[in-house]
Amino acid sequence: MSAVLQHTESHPTETLHVTRLEPTIGAEISGIDLRQPLTPALRDELRRLLLEHKVIFFRDQAISTEQQIAFAREFGELYVHPTTQQNDPAQPQAHLIEAQDARKLYGPRISGRWHTDTSWLLQPTLGAVLRAVDLPAVGGDTLWADTAAVYRALPDALREEIDDLHVVHDFKSSLDKVGYDYPILAHPLVRTHPETGEDGLFINFSQNPSVIGWPPEKSKQLIERLLLEFNKPEHQVRFKWRENSVAFWDNRSTLHYPVYNYGDYPRRMERVLIAYDDIPHRAKRADAA
Ligand code: SIN
Repeated sequence: MSAVLQHTESHPTETLHVTRLEPTIGAEISGIDLRQPLTPALRDELRRLLLEHKVIFFRDQAISTEQQIAFAREFGELYVHPTTQQNDPAQPQAHLIEAQDARKLYGPRISGRWHTDTSWLLQPTLGAVLRAVDLPAVGGDTLWADTAAVYRALPDALREEIDDLHVVHDFKSSLDKVGYDYPILAHPLVRTHPETGEDGLFINFSQNPSVIGWPPEKSKQLIERLLLEFNKPEHQVRFKWRENSVAFWDNRSTLHYPVYNYGDYPRRMERVLIAYDDIPHRAKRADAA
């Protein structure tokens, strides 16, 4: 029988064990029971780990929807998405992510899968907590890419060329279907993380990205070049879901990609989004005039 760990205020983080999964992105955290309320010190430590590793994973967490919501709420206000399905209307913060729904969301094109949640908002969500509810026997992994690693890997001349660009995040057709009126926005392509100060690419391949002020063909070529970089395994971590697995990621420093390789199996996940008040921006560079 497994013991339930008590998080005491005096030694709140001493039971945590952190296993780094890739050099710059992804860590598995054990020695915690997400059914238990977090102490402030444990919450702060998890937030620090999230900033450091960009996506953190927990195994063997048999948590309910309520416990998932309570966990996410420790990190900020929750965001109720206007288009995503819900399992339970009484708990609208928990979004049901299902294969059928996701196919509609991301479309059939493989190029549309790398995305960051709610980037169509002026103040996109900080991050998300995703829990596996019903998984295929094999397949249905999720990948996350480190947007700063992708940015750093670009040739100097290309980085220089794109540094001050703005890219469109267009979710309008999906929002229109539910009668949600919101303008189409552009955000800086290079975004400075508001907490770590790291620069990374901020682009959503599922939301018709195009460069403001560039001719369509030139814009398309750049988007394809950036996609090539996101597709490199060197910048990614791949998570194999198991029953009772939970992922917690930072939408400001990662893109993610749900893998569809499980046919018609009704893979089901529950996602809770954490809201934020940061408007994506590029910090002034030290060498700027
Ligand atoms: C999401 O795109 O937010 C969910 C990812 C997944 O279902 O793997």
